[in-house]
Amino acid sequence: MRHPFDTLDWPIPTARLLLRRATPDDLEATWTFRQLPETQEWIGAALTAYDDYREHFLHDERLAELLIVELDGRVVGDLTLRVQDAWAQKEVADQAKGVQGELGWTLDPSYGGKGYATEAVRALIGLAFGRLGLRRLRADCFYDNEPSWRLMERVGMRREQHTVKDSLHRARGWLDGLSYALLAEEWPAPK
Ligand SMILES: CC(C)(COP(=O)(O)OP(=O)(O)OC[C@H]1O[C@@H](n2cnc3c(N)ncnc32)[C@H](O)[C@@H]1OP(=O)(O)O)[C@@H](O)C(=O)NCCC(=O)NCCS
Repeated sequence: MRHPFDTLDWPIPTARLLLRRATPDDLEATWTFRQLPETQEWIGAALTAYDDYREHFLHDERLAELLIVELDGRVVGDLTLRVQDAWAQKEVADQAKGVQGELGWTLDPSYGGKGYATEAVRALIGLAFGRLGLRRLRADCFYDNEPSWRLMERVGMRREQHTVKDSLHRARGWLDGLSYALLAEEWPAPK
């Protein structure tokens, strides 16, 4: 199995959106918003050359964990769920394999401010705790990436860590970092 997403039936509709697995054909559509400076400001790798982006996008593991967010047939964003092992003592390490996930998101800024990212992330959390049976989800961001941590708070994630100047931004230098998390038993979070 490449990713637990393989066990689900796709696409998955939400109130306004459709979530589906990413395919190589989504290269162009995701490049449209991932190449924008306002998107690149905060994402892990600011790939400015199309060929570099293609190589990154078409990587098997990356594609397997990537979902596409569609609005009326248009690609408006993407989501990732990276399934991970939890830390555990050696004797119980088997029980900690593949039990948690790290979330990621990018929304085309021309579709921002309408709650689409919130709606898509809520749906992904529902899948992760529901049909995928994960026990904990986490997400990290720079402290200065306020739209991202506000999104985490809107979906009910808890701020668990504020680290001081531990994260190096390519233009802003050493910045504070935030970690948020949510447990399955805390879901659904009150709106
Ligand atoms: C993080 C990111 C997805 C947030 O986008 P966003 O547009 O703020 O989020 P949403 O689509 O959920 O919209 C929320 C806004 O719509 C408003 N809104 C309108 N209708 C809404 C609805 N039905 N439900 C929820 N919010 C709604 C909210 O009040 C909020 O506005 P506010 O910021 O003025 O309070 C976006 O900034 C982004 O892609 N950033 C670059 C990539 C990035 O940083 N990724 C993470 C790296 S760690």
